[in-house]
Amino acid sequence: MSLAVRVQEWMSVRKRAQDLVTLRGLVGPSSEVRLLDIGGGAGAATERFATGCGEIVVLEPDRRKVVLGRTLRPTIRFEEGHAESLPFPDGSFDRVVSVVAFHHIEDQDKALAEMRRVLRPDGRLVVVEMAKSHAPGTVARSLGGLRHSEHLTFLDPVELAAKMMAHGFRTTSAQEGERSYFVRASR
Ligand SMILES: C[S@@+](CC[C@H](N)C(=O)[O-])C[C@H]1O[C@@H](n2cnc3c(N)ncnc32)[C@H](O)[C@@H]1O
Repeated sequence: MSLAVRVQEWMSVRKRAQDLVTLRGLVGPSSEVRLLDIGGGAGAATERFATGCGEIVVLEPDRRKVVLGRTLRPTIRFEEGHAESLPFPDGSFDRVVSVVAFHHIEDQDKALAEMRRVLRPDGRLVVVEMAKSHAPGTVARSLGGLRHSEHLTFLDPVELAAKMMAHGFRTTSAQEGERSYFVRASR
């Protein structure tokens, strides 16, 4: 399993290299920044866009990825959990990021409320998602759903930005990447 995750993350990070550079620009790492990556897996993408932040935390429900991440990336703190119930106090982070994980989240409204809660007042949320046009087709989605025992819900940038605004995020802006899109919001 751990070899499979390592290979999969390595290939996935490689093909998304340009989008991860764009994300790094949106995050703006610095020693004052405390960053939370929701659904960050074993952290291969996280280290690309977040290195340089004063504190980096990955929240991930898959225990095997958490264990692997702790082994491979000791400078990142890995916590096991779900986006819908974040195990952190209010206002803990300057940046909350989620990279191609939002479509996996079963209760996206609850997750957005939680993301806003753990951001400090002038904090920033950046969600990176796959365009609906790049989302797996019905057969692949069913197979993925069976494999992960979960459903997948893909939104387009306008729908995602509207959802964020409905949860009280102030300004939102969307931009296209090479393989995905980015929606950025301020708390
Ligand atoms: C496609 S992977 C992306 C991993 C990583 N962010 C990256 O870009 O390489 C999606 C991740 O979301 C996680 N995930 C699924 N449901 C979740 C939930 N409810 N809350 C947080 N993460 C979740 C999965 O376990 C998986 O690691």
